[in-house]
Amino acid sequence: MGAVLALGGCSDPAKSQDPPIPPGPAPELRQIAPFPVGVAISTLDIADPQLAALIARQFSQLTPNWQMKMEIVLREDGGFDFAKADEIAAFARANRQRLFGHNLIWHLETPIAFQRLEGGGRDAFVNAYRNYITAVVSRYRGQAVGWDVVNEPVAEDGNGLRDSLWSRNLGLEDYMLLAFQFARAADPNAVLLVNEYNLETNPQKLDTFLRLIERLLNRGAPITGLGNQSHISIDTPPGASTRAIQALARFGLPIHISELDVSMGRRRLDLRSPAQKEALQRQRMVEVAEAFVALPPAQRFGFTFWGVRDRDSWLQRPPNGDGTDHPLPFDDELRPKPAFYAIADVFRRA
Ligand code: XIL
Repeated sequence: MGAVLALGGCSDPAKSQDPPIPPGPAPELRQIAPFPVGVAISTLDIADPQLAALIARQFSQLTPNWQMKMEIVLREDGGFDFAKADEIAAFARANRQRLFGHNLIWHLETPIAFQRLEGGGRDAFVNAYRNYITAVVSRYRGQAVGWDVVNEPVAEDGNGLRDSLWSRNLGLEDYMLLAFQFARAADPNAVLLVNEYNLETNPQKLDTFLRLIERLLNRGAPITGLGNQSHISIDTPPGASTRAIQALARFGLPIHISELDVSMGRRRLDLRSPAQKEALQRQRMVEVAEAFVALPPAQRFGFTFWGVRDRDSWLQRPPNGDGTDHPLPFDDELRPKPAFYAIADVFRRA
């Protein structure tokens, strides 16, 4: 019912204004929600006392937004550097938050230590691949509740799978199967996910993704969760997020809303007022929240925002933006935005 109301709000000008902000202290999402509420953070965020306090108060799960990626963890000489990832892991322990591992294998991460092995035979490449995944997963075994084992495997246009260092050296789909097998061997308990984006707006990409998951599961890949990044915008068509989440949920696996942000749009000429755009942002976030809480409890892995406050968003920096977007739940003064209150209401009813 709530989703229907939210959708109706788009065409009804009377509902396109945000409701007044309730008086009193902001609700605390981690207390309200009967599932983990996550946020992506960096080591800079937890070095800022005010931001660190808010992260501890509001969220029950942390994703390092960068500190567990290969470019940080794997040195050129093949050695490991876990200093930054460890800082976030320690913060999570201190604040009784779950740690979420992001990510193991990603087309955008092409470290020298692996490039050097190209052309040197499959065995050497597989061994280094196994060593990497084993080292990273083992280090956080018992703490990391899950891993994005493979990030963004589908081609940008949705036709087929991505070509990458990994697919070229290990096989278009075999690199994924191997990554899941190695991750599972290193941690028998972690939830192991494939994470993807633009599934709301590109039906071909959603279809390719669903077929890929089906094939990998049929081949025995220990995939035990699916991540829907949910980098959407106020121009994402109403209903699109709901359809994508419902399609993913048909496998019966836990679903992670893994990187939610709602861009204020990229139109060159945009006559909508800031208030109208903020209302659309609230509606789009509410739609994702409602689709998520509608899942059976066992399928609610977590609901994660890709950052805390607007000015720190990756959409604010080139090549993604110029500092004028406002995609996150808190404004630059760390005040909760209308979308935050609306999401808290959805979580309260869950
Ligand atoms: C982004 C981070 O937010 C940036 O700080 C970093 O420079 C690049 O990566 N999909 C993902 C995330 O899976 O890892 C990306 O995060 C955003 C898109």
